[in-house]
Amino acid sequence: MTASNTILTDGFGRKHNYLRISLLEKCNLRCTYCMPADGIALSPKASLMTTEEIFAIAETFVKNGVDKIRLTGGEPLLRKDFPEIISKLSELNVSLSITTNGILIDRHIEVLKQSNVKKINLSLDTLVSSKFHSITLRNQFEKVIDNLHLLLNNNFHVKVNVVLMKGFNDNEIVDFVKLTQFLPISVRFIEFMPFAGNEWDRSKMVSQQEILSLVETQFSSEEILKLEDEKNFTSRNYKVKGFQGDFGIISSITNPFCDSCNRIRLTADGKIKNCLFSNSETDLLTAFRNGKSITDLISESIQNKKKVRAGMVTMDEMDDPTKHFDNRSMIAIGG
Ligand code: 5AD
Ligand code: SF4
Repeated sequence: MTASNTILTDGFGRKHNYLRISLLEKCNLRCTYCMPADGIALSPKASLMTTEEIFAIAETFVKNGVDKIRLTGGEPLLRKDFPEIISKLSELNVSLSITTNGILIDRHIEVLKQSNVKKINLSLDTLVSSKFHSITLRNQFEKVIDNLHLLLNNNFHVKVNVVLMKGFNDNEIVDFVKLTQFLPISVRFIEFMPFAGNEWDRSKMVSQQEILSLVETQFSSEEILKLEDEKNFTSRNYKVKGFQGDFGIISSITNPFCDSCNRIRLTADGKIKNCLFSNSETDLLTAFRNGKSITDLISESIQNKKKVRAGMVTMDEMDDPTKHFDNRSMIAIGG
């Protein structure tokens, strides 16, 4: 470890080399688990980071040890200056990726290739067109499917994010796994998480254990191979023998993976969150605009990072809605 990357090492020895930057709080879908029904109060445009500010702040992180950057939103491809942002960030020595709902992929595929983006996370919660509308409130299913194929035909590695909700899409788990037979994708089943305005309760969540049991209704345990966990994994991965793709489970609720967390988030208005579940934020953008150094602020935030889920250690604490009121909605955090 070089002296310069110590500001990204927290009190538990975790090194934060992965920065997730949210580019904006808007989206062209309205996924109910992400966007509150009444929408959210958008930050005024002047308080969002500009292209140059994103680059300068990202560069500071890179100088201090970040080598992986993911762009999120809202929907990152909705930002008018997305091509400039991604091209500029590709000058940094990092692996670049994005999380997108896929609707605008065809418009941006060239700049993604030119910027050396190799991995894309695509949100897709159902394989049934009418259900797509009921979760996203928009009719864009065919577009997303076309763009998924476009990405695969252009050799991107695609992870398909499926947020599971009981009674809505848990009956599609097996279909999603079957999709990996002929498509070289990684399907990731995500336990539904609580954020402001998304009416979370434990009974709506499909747990890791339930997901595996459902997969086992179709595939025998000899057919399901457990893959080795990646170094800073969020997803515990499996593969059905002989299938091209694989599947994984992101169990932030029932089986958190905070011990190996290397992630830090930068919101579109320039605040860092040291955890997805953290209610406290550190405002880097204001300091940056006032010409102050942001490295001390980054260091302070990292030092304050809690061991597990921003201090919510038990399931009972997760159940307590007062713990989530002060957090942002997911749309304003960036997945
Ligand atoms: N629970 C789990 N995952 C969520 N995402 C958004 N809201 C939630 C939630 N409440 C994830 C989705 C999407 C990404 C942007 O964030 O997987 O792909
Ligand atoms: Fe948009 Fe993604 Fe949130 Fe859905 S989950 S509303 S696609 S940002």
